[in-house]
Amino acid sequence: MSGLDVGVYGLGVMGEAFALNLESRGLKVAVYNRTAKRTSQFIESRAKGKNIQGFTGLREFIESLSRPRMIILFVKSGRPVDDVIESLAGMLEKGDVIIDCGNSHFRDSDRRFAELGKRGIRFLGVGVSGGEEGALKGPSMMFGGDFSAYIEAENKIGRAAALFENSRCSGYFGDGGAGHFVKIVHNGIEYAVMQAIAEVYDYLWRGIGMSSGEVGSVFEEWGEGLLRSFLLEAAARVLKHLDPETGKPLVELIVDVAEQKGTGRWAVEAALELGVSIPTIAAAVDERTLTTQRTLRNPTTQKVSNSERRAGEALDTARDALLATITLSYIQGISLLEAGSRIYGFRVPEALRVWRAGCIIRSRLVEELYRELSWSPGEPAATALEKSHNQLEELLPSWVQFISHASGLRIPTPASMSALSYYLSLRSERLPANLIQGIRDYFGRHMFRRVDRDGYFHSDWGRGQ
Ligand SMILES: NC(=O)c1ccc[n+]([C@@H]2O[C@H](COP(=O)([O-])OP(=O)(O)OC[C@H]3O[C@@H](n4cnc5c(N)ncnc54)[C@H](OP(=O)(O)O)[C@@H]3O)[C@@H](O)[C@H]2O)c1
Repeated sequence: MSGLDVGVYGLGVMGEAFALNLESRGLKVAVYNRTAKRTSQFIESRAKGKNIQGFTGLREFIESLSRPRMIILFVKSGRPVDDVIESLAGMLEKGDVIIDCGNSHFRDSDRRFAELGKRGIRFLGVGVSGGEEGALKGPSMMFGGDFSAYIEAENKIGRAAALFENSRCSGYFGDGGAGHFVKIVHNGIEYAVMQAIAEVYDYLWRGIGMSSGEVGSVFEEWGEGLLRSFLLEAAARVLKHLDPETGKPLVELIVDVAEQKGTGRWAVEAALELGVSIPTIAAAVDERTLTTQRTLRNPTTQKVSNSERRAGEALDTARDALLATITLSYIQGISLLEAGSRIYGFRVPEALRVWRAGCIIRSRLVEELYRELSWSPGEPAATALEKSHNQLEELLPSWVQFISHASGLRIPTPASMSALSYYLSLRSERLPANLIQGIRDYFGRHMFRRVDRDGYFHSDWGRGQ
């Protein structure tokens, strides 16, 4: 057996779906999974009658592929990826390609790219977004790593990517972990947008007293306008779904503890390392963590309902706050991309281009930001902020009202609040950093700069030192 086009290692949720996608684009696919039973189950069920061959031996799997071999990994990120690469590398030949499509940390991909490069094996780290459905029908794909391997891979597996107006939502972002860096930023934005949507739901449900289904209908309506996005559509569906056993909205039966696999935290860590402020993404990561702090969480309020407020007014302020918060979440992401682009050398609008379809953060806003940034000179985040200025100014009064009203009802709005502070800070003529510098100099001789002359200065602050 020889001559299969591509191999997929790992038949979990994503690997199975992606193997089927590749086959549907005319490729002959070899599949392998650590637990052999999973391979045989796949071959006997979803892969039946398709151009997909399952292997239980790693060597047979590798030998089934045409040269240079191209092996896609969809395995749990971290150590398992290193273990799998090690088990494969010894059996591969110079020029073969390993493509890690899992959610790996970009620094790990930098390292794997360098290590495999020394052994003559070409490595690609690919951020894949779109969940199971995306993997099956067309995900957004962010490539990084060996450029020659990318050209070959784009020809084969790039076919599986989502299309936006006939253009593939896949792109190359540079050496090593560039693709995974872009994916981490994508996931950071995803965290922030989900938190922003969730807090608006909280306000409308607990605060205004709307039913979950009603909030779902409102989200559907909003989703026809400026807020059109996959995540709002997903939220509407989740809110309207009834539990078949109890007849209650299923969402109300879900424990209020949000889990995370780490990509949001990695975005925050990368931002801290690169000196970029992404407070709304950080607030979203923090709030997920807070939901897990069971002993610290000590409820003093029950479901509050404020009948005095007209639902119409509350809805308008909530919609405006949501639009402003999501816009600033994207701008923070763009700001982080900009820092990454200085390491990897990609063009920031390229990320927005590949996020227009297939991925979890696809939205009208991404489309608009891409249109605005694709040909704009200057720094992308500053340009995006400038272009959004008029709209954000218009949204400001109701955004403030939303936060104030929600806080009065003891409903937390960390994403909206952090986005508002971010915006106000960026738009302030002067920030109180002067006092911070003064205090630093007072206790630690850290020096400060003056507005009226050049250089660094120290004062004894009247203590005669
Ligand atoms: N699910 C999503 O929406 C999504 C979206 C984008 C990216 N991703 C990323 O894609 C990757 C796969 O995700 P998934 O959702 O498909 O995961 P999954 O359903 O949990 O499957 C995990 C796969 O990893 C394999 N695996 C785990 N440890 C291994 C090891 N030490 N050696 C070899 N194989 C090992 C498992 O094999 P066994 O069957 O033998 O356990 C299984 O095939 C992850 O990095 C994930 O973060 C997921």
